[in-house]
Order: sequence, then structure tokens, then C-alpha cells
Amino acid sequence: MRVLQVASEIFPLVKTGGLADVMGALPQALQAAGADVRLLLPGLPAILDAALDRQPVCTMGPLFGAGRVTLVRARLPGNPVPAYLIEAPYLYRRPGGPYQAADGAAWSDNLQRFALLGWMAGQMAAGEIDPGWEPEIVHAHDWHAGLACAYMSAHPATTAKSVFTIHNLAFQGLFPGAEFGHLGLPPRYMRPQGLEFYEQLSFMKAGLMYADRITTVSPTYAQEIATPEFGSGLDGVIRQRADVVSGILNGVDPEVWSPATDPLLAAPYDAAHLAGKARCKAALQAEFGLAPHADAPLFCIVSRLTAQKGLDLVLAALPAALQAGAQFVVQGTGDAALEAAFGAAAQTHPGRVAVFLGYDEDRAHRLIGGADAIMVPSRFEPCGLTQLYGLRYGTLPLVRRVGGLADTVVDADAGEHGTGFAFGEASVPALEATLRRAIDTFRQPARWAALVQRAMAQDFSWREAAQKYLALYRLA
Ligand code: ADP
Ligand code: GLC
Repeated sequence: MRVLQVASEIFPLVKTGGLADVMGALPQALQAAGADVRLLLPGLPAILDAALDRQPVCTMGPLFGAGRVTLVRARLPGNPVPAYLIEAPYLYRRPGGPYQAADGAAWSDNLQRFALLGWMAGQMAAGEIDPGWEPEIVHAHDWHAGLACAYMSAHPATTAKSVFTIHNLAFQGLFPGAEFGHLGLPPRYMRPQGLEFYEQLSFMKAGLMYADRITTVSPTYAQEIATPEFGSGLDGVIRQRADVVSGILNGVDPEVWSPATDPLLAAPYDAAHLAGKARCKAALQAEFGLAPHADAPLFCIVSRLTAQKGLDLVLAALPAALQAGAQFVVQGTGDAALEAAFGAAAQTHPGRVAVFLGYDEDRAHRLIGGADAIMVPSRFEPCGLTQLYGLRYGTLPLVRRVGGLADTVVDADAGEHGTGFAFGEASVPALEATLRRAIDTFRQPARWAALVQRAMAQDFSWREAAQKYLALYRLA
């Protein structure tokens, strides 16, 4: 089966969150399962500059403001999946992030930048671009690629089917309705049964309305987004399309996240040899200036600092947990107010709270390897990957029972199968009580060790997810 995977990020070249990890791993898992997979990515500087064996496939333009656009075929280093890259320097070659400038302001031409991505997928699906390879399935990820589904539906020559995956329904790619004319879609697409969203146009809604199949990254989130609480205004659309919506859990890339082979750890370890984990903890405490106490339960957070992640609850629960003897190490970037609050907490509690405000892939491994527990108290969480990394590293997840967190972590007090700690209500008392339970459990070494063993025995593999996607492609 020929499958084109369309997205805007890919680990390790361009990453703002879990989407990149998924794009770095899922296509390879599909390929390993026998599918003929290719990637379609925007020619962002970090991607184009790393690409090997570039061969032009087709030159076009002007398109979406770019005078000249070239589609090239290439290889990405360390990745066996062939990639199509869209070379459009006017739209993509600039410093800053994939969606915004260094100062955090969204690029003013994001409509054009991501319309081109979707348009190219639509053209490829209609057989207009590469006579040597025509996809049977176009799998588009998040709003950045959502228009692919609309362009495919609008092109009479399309026989390929589309699958659209929601990684986060809160980011929707909304633009003024008046800009619809730039998209080159028939006017009937700009209506409530199309991609119109309260007089704006929504790339996310284009994916939801025109895809043949819709998935999201956990079964629980697939249910949640049909409700007003989690639907971000699109729950009605999700309910309308309920018969084609399903949830498939993300996996973990064992090449990147395995404590036994992780070169970024102070010492490797596995479930049978946990001495290395104790060394990782001591090294982490030393690196961050935390008191060198092996018997202090050390909680870590590795996260975007945004309202989604529930970190305001952590700030409020901090004093009680410190009182009970816990240590915290936090790594993240994002909201200025949260950055300032975590910075202040580190100042107030030297030796017990340490904070790194920044993005650092290597350091994330040291935190997750060295801590005893990892906190993910999200208000909503489509899947969540750091709790999965925590499980693999015997770093017990403490999570809110929501979305993919509910699907992947079993509470220690819920019977024989516990792998972490979970709470329901998004409130400070609920988080405090759960932190207290985790700290009490840490003080019972035999119980904690049993949880660590069970956590490390979990297998959230991409192999299994790939089989589920392949079954869905066949259904489509
Ligand atoms: P989301 O995609 O909502 O941010 P996920 O848990 O799916 O949440 O994925 C987050 C990814 O980003 C993980 O790979 C995590 O390790 C990484 N990450 C988040 N913040 C940082 C940071 N400050 N430094 C390094 N990696 C980070
Ligand atoms: C999004 C979600 C996160 C998920 C990731 C990868 O960024 O916020 O929960 O794990 O996508 O699917």
C-alpha cells in the first residue's frame, strides 16, 4: 500500500512537541510493516539543509505568493523513509520556528505556507506531480496538513483516500474568512458544512469535514472531543462524523528512548539492573544543585509550559510536597507567567526545586532517567508521550486521568496492575493528595520497586500502532 504521510515537523530536525516524535517514528514503523511509505514535508531550513540525495521531481509556480516552487525527492539522515520536500524559499526559508518567529508571533503568511503543503498533497494524490509514485492513502497530521483533505475532495482525478489525525484539537489554524480566495478552492467549500468556522476559515475543520477517516492519538481523547468540554468548538463536527472517528495510541521509539542503550544517561540501566538509575539520580541532583539525598523522592517535569499542561496546579501544590520531603526538577519553555513562577519557585527553594527554562533534548533524557517520578497533570492531553517515556525509564508517571494519560497509566491503588499515580479532578487538593500518596509509596521501597518493574514491563510499541493504522487504511 502506497501511503503519503503529510506533516510540518519531524524529529530530530524540526520539533515543537510530540507531533515531531510521532512523525519520526510512525512512518518507519509502517514501512517496517511492509507499506510503501513516503513523507511530504515543507522545506523548512533545518529539513532542507539536512536532506541528502536531493532530486527535483517537478517545478511549479507562482503558487501562494511563492514565485517558484520545486518538489524534490530526498533522504533524511538516519531515516529510511523517502521524503518529498517542498522547496519554496519565499515561504519557508527564514529563521525562527515552523509556525512563529523567534518573538512568538505567528508568521503572517501561515495561511499560504500551510495551504501549499495541503495543495501539494492534493496534487500528488491526483497523480499530477510524480508519475512514478501515486499515493493510495494520504495521511495528514494536525491543522497544518488539514487542507490536503479538502484539495483531494475538490480534485476530480483523486482516487486516493484521506486519513486525518488530530494531535491537538486546540490548535486549529484559523484565518480570516476573507482570505478564502487565496486557497483556490471552489466557493462551496466556504460554508458551515465545509471549512467555514464562525465566519473564519479553519484548516482543522477542513481535515475533519473532508477526510475519509479521522483518528486521534488515544481512544479516550477520541471520546472526549465529542463533548463541549474538550471539543474546542468543534465537538459538533466530531459528533457529526462519529462513524469515522477512532483513537489509536502513540508508541515510543525504542531507538531514542531506552534506558539500557541511552548514551545521554550518566549510567545505562534496565529493569534487572537498577543501580544505573540510582547513579542517574545522583548525577541529576548534582547537575541541578539539588541536595544529594537518595531517599528524597525526586519528581520531574519536561513540558511545554502552557495552560494545557496543568502546571499552575503544580505550583500551588509545591509547598505541601516540599514539606513532605520531595524534590522537583522542571524543564520547559512557554508562557512567560509560568516561566516566571517556576523561576521564582527555584529561587525560593534552593536545593529542593530546580528549573531549566529552555528546550534541550539531551537534558530531557537526563531528567527522565534520573527522576523517581514524572508529572503530567494536564487539563487535557490527546496522548502525551513523556508519561510513556517515564514508564520505560522506571520513572513513575503521576498524571491527571484524562485523554491518553488515562489510557496509559494505571493507578497504584487501583489493584494489581498499577504503574503510576492518577487523579481525577483538576484541583490543587486532588493533586496534593496524589503527590502525598506517591511520596508515601516511595517510602515503602518494596512497593515502589514492584511499581517500577511493572512500569518498565509496559510495551507501547509503534509496531502495534502501525498495524492499527494499516487496518484503518484498508478500511478507507
Ligand atoms: P505535546 O506534544 O503536547 O507537547 P507530548 O508529551 O506528546 O506533548 O510531547 C512532548 C515532547 O516534547 C516530548 O518528546 C518531550 O520530551 C518534549 N519536550 C517538551 N518540552 C521540552 C523541553 N523543554 N526540552 C526538551 N524536550 C521537551
Ligand atoms: C500533541 C498532543 C500530545 C500528543 C502529541 C503527539 O502535541 O498535545 O498529547 O502526544 O500531539 O500525538
